[in-house]
Amino acid sequence: MNSEKDFIAKSLTATIENGSSEWSAPSNIALVKYWGKKQHQIPANPSISFTLRDCKTITKLNFAKRENDGNFSFDLLFEGKPKEDFKPKIQKFLERIEAYCPYLKEYHFTIDTENTFPHSSGIASSASGMAALSMNIMSLEKALNPSMSEDYFYRKASFLARLGSGSACRSVKGSVVVWGNHAGIEGSSDLFGVEFTSEIHRNFSNYQDTILLVDKGEKQVSSTVGHDLMHNHPFAEQRFGQAHQNLSAIKSILGNGDLEAFIKIVESEALTLHAMMMTSMPYFILMKPNTLEIINAIWKFRNDTKIPVCFTLDAGANVHVLYPENVRESVLQFIKGELLGYCQNGQYICDRIGTGAINI
Ligand code: PMV
Repeated sequence: MNSEKDFIAKSLTATIENGSSEWSAPSNIALVKYWGKKQHQIPANPSISFTLRDCKTITKLNFAKRENDGNFSFDLLFEGKPKEDFKPKIQKFLERIEAYCPYLKEYHFTIDTENTFPHSSGIASSASGMAALSMNIMSLEKALNPSMSEDYFYRKASFLARLGSGSACRSVKGSVVVWGNHAGIEGSSDLFGVEFTSEIHRNFSNYQDTILLVDKGEKQVSSTVGHDLMHNHPFAEQRFGQAHQNLSAIKSILGNGDLEAFIKIVESEALTLHAMMMTSMPYFILMKPNTLEIINAIWKFRNDTKIPVCFTLDAGANVHVLYPENVRESVLQFIKGELLGYCQNGQYICDRIGTGAINI
């Protein structure tokens, strides 16, 4: 499975009139960031992420056979109510995956979706949302092709999710997921995410991620635009090279449990991601003053206590605070005492490493 052609559905031997499936898929947080892409969401550099456990999308898919009139037919419900403004995104997704799922126009779909995190929290729901929908589509395909292997099922789900939103391909399977060709990671691919299967040091088991909601507003610049600005970016080649190196380094660190080295790479990756935004043309800033207040407070706390807590950022102002389970109490006390004042309405979400999508 290393070419797009391998994902064109075949052996659709069964006839299915109607049915339903339900999957949850989590969000994920990148340690080495994906920023910059080629056509069809092929990443400009490889990335690696921790899968989250509690921040997830739960999607139910009902399907009923219909006359293929050349159009997609679907209703979209968000928290049980029709949500017209989500439909164009889904329509575009279905168009992108149609070549690989030629059966889609033969069904009417009802997509009923909800998130476990507040909708306006500024947490990107595209990764978990696209992953959950892709799992459901694969459940239908598996019903049409009962001989499909489990390996193919998950790979194609990740492949489809990637076409919805790049980082969504890392929300399908595994606690630590690599997406993008990397010389040091066997089986890694630009087409789908793969589980990081090397031994992971116990320092990382049940690793914690507390998400501080600094700004819940709409982003001024979408990730699609941000990725595009890496074309002709003055530092693009350097950055892509650096991501390869950082992935090699983090691969060893995940094995040897060196938290000091982990922190250096993770924080540097977060700041580099935002440095790319600040040095593109046009340039932009997604961090807010409180993002920097939090970063400085984390640095001071770490320096004073030697507790191995660090931050990372995605394409927004929120801060993900990462730390091992054995320092949970002290870090939560620090967060509650010193960081919540920087969060919008004092909001935060406690999450931790999870394992991927779940069939409900
Ligand atoms: O999946 P997208 O297109 O929304 O891009 C997300 C990119 C970052 O979250 C900033 C980094 C990453 O690797 O998840």
